[in-house]
Amino acid sequence: MALSKLDSLYMAVVTEHSKSPRHKGKLDGVEALQLHNPTCGDVIELSLKLEKGIITDIAFDGIGCTISTASASMMTEAVLGKSIHQARELADTFSSLVQGQEVNEQEQLGDAFLLAGVAKFPQRIKCATLSWNALKKALDRQAEQGE
Ligand code: FES
Repeated sequence: MALSKLDSLYMAVVTEHSKSPRHKGKLDGVEALQLHNPTCGDVIELSLKLEKGIITDIAFDGIGCTISTASASMMTEAVLGKSIHQARELADTFSSLVQGQEVNEQEQLGDAFLLAGVAKFPQRIKCATLSWNALKKALDRQAEQGE
């Protein structure tokens, strides 16, 4: 059966982000937050910098599948320049999206919105949300440290 246009777009964008991930690496002077996907053991390391409550730099590293790598790349693009509050809201929106719920702020998610189809594959939801969960934990840690 031929792929629909949306499925083709989804596959092309996910593949492109996975092969050429944005903001891949580590940030100097920032202790990366590590988070494992308990179902496969893959790990993401997320570093971010905040200035006056705005995410001014972000990078990820680690080992993950195509979906987790693409999702991390999309997440970094979506939250760079956003406030802590906006980034947390986007993380919650993304989590709802990949669980098949209707969401309002589609355009704010950027390419990450294309991962809505993951809802059809429950075993991949943890892949898609790994980086977003790491984001929330990294923001929590920054808050504890008084940023
Ligand atoms: Fe490990 Fe997707 S299979 S993050």
